[in-house]
Amino acid sequence: MTEMIYEGANLDKQDPVLRTEGLKKSFGGLTATNDVTIQVERGSITGMIGPNGAGKSTLFNLISGFYDLDAGRVWVNNEEVTDAEPHETARTGLIRTFQTPRRLEGMTVREAMLVGPGPQVGESIIPLFLRPGTVKKQERANIEEAERLLERFEIDHLIDQPSTDLSGGQLKLVELARAIMTEPDILLLDEPVAGVNPTLANDINRFIRELNEEGQTFLIIEHDMPFIMDLADPIIVLDQGRVLMEGTPEEVRNDQRVIDAYLGGAE
Ligand SMILES: Nc1ncnc2c1ncn2[C@@H]1O[C@H](COP(=O)(O)OP(=O)(O)O)[C@@H](O)[C@H]1O
Ligand SMILES: [Mg+2]
Repeated sequence: MTEMIYEGANLDKQDPVLRTEGLKKSFGGLTATNDVTIQVERGSITGMIGPNGAGKSTLFNLISGFYDLDAGRVWVNNEEVTDAEPHETARTGLIRTFQTPRRLEGMTVREAMLVGPGPQVGESIIPLFLRPGTVKKQERANIEEAERLLERFEIDHLIDQPSTDLSGGQLKLVELARAIMTEPDILLLDEPVAGVNPTLANDINRFIRELNEEGQTFLIIEHDMPFIMDLADPIIVLDQGRVLMEGTPEEVRNDQRVIDAYLGGAE
């Protein structure tokens, strides 16, 4: 094996689904994102780690159109989405979940599945769903797909539960299922196992792996080191808004800059 010295991110991807260039974002005097240039290879599970406050969630918000950029550009499938609204970015094939999933007041799991992932997808089919007499072929197909996904993620028994009654872990699984509903080209998960019990975390690991084997690309922020080291390759490390390095789990684990960032950081 040849030894490689990584300077920031590896930008030699063959077929990147997602590319960013020089992303910048400040909140008052604080630079949360500082010149972030990354690529995510199609078919990969790319991890993203970094100490608390490194700017990971902010980066997801910038990429998915939830925050306006101060500078930089974003492409999904080679289509520029730099100034796109979240639903427009979703339409190009990029879906994200939230670190804290929104509870859908007054909706059952079935209904939540049918309104798409969070506020990102503009159009809702729920009004049609609530009037069963008017349910057409497409809506019927959506309902069947929702049921199939809930079964796949082993939460079909929750289908008629109000989403407000779910545990944190169950909500994470519903979020994953809702995100998959739209068949995204790339799925951004923000801490998919935060606050989830170890059994459910193992299930989530298995589901992500299986989806990836079927071709699903992931970019995953995760705080749980064993989880992300086991699942992702490559891993991008952020620190103080910048890309510190990108490498294999092994390279990241042994990198002195990464060790220093975590020791010197908030944790
Ligand atoms: N909407 C916001 N307004 C002000 N500051 C923010 C906002 N979002 C994030 N920040 C700040 O940006 C920095 C990076 O935050 P965040 O992206 O959430 O980090 P991470 O997800 O890596 O823990 C933090 O200092 C945080 O307080
Ligand atoms: Mg975060």
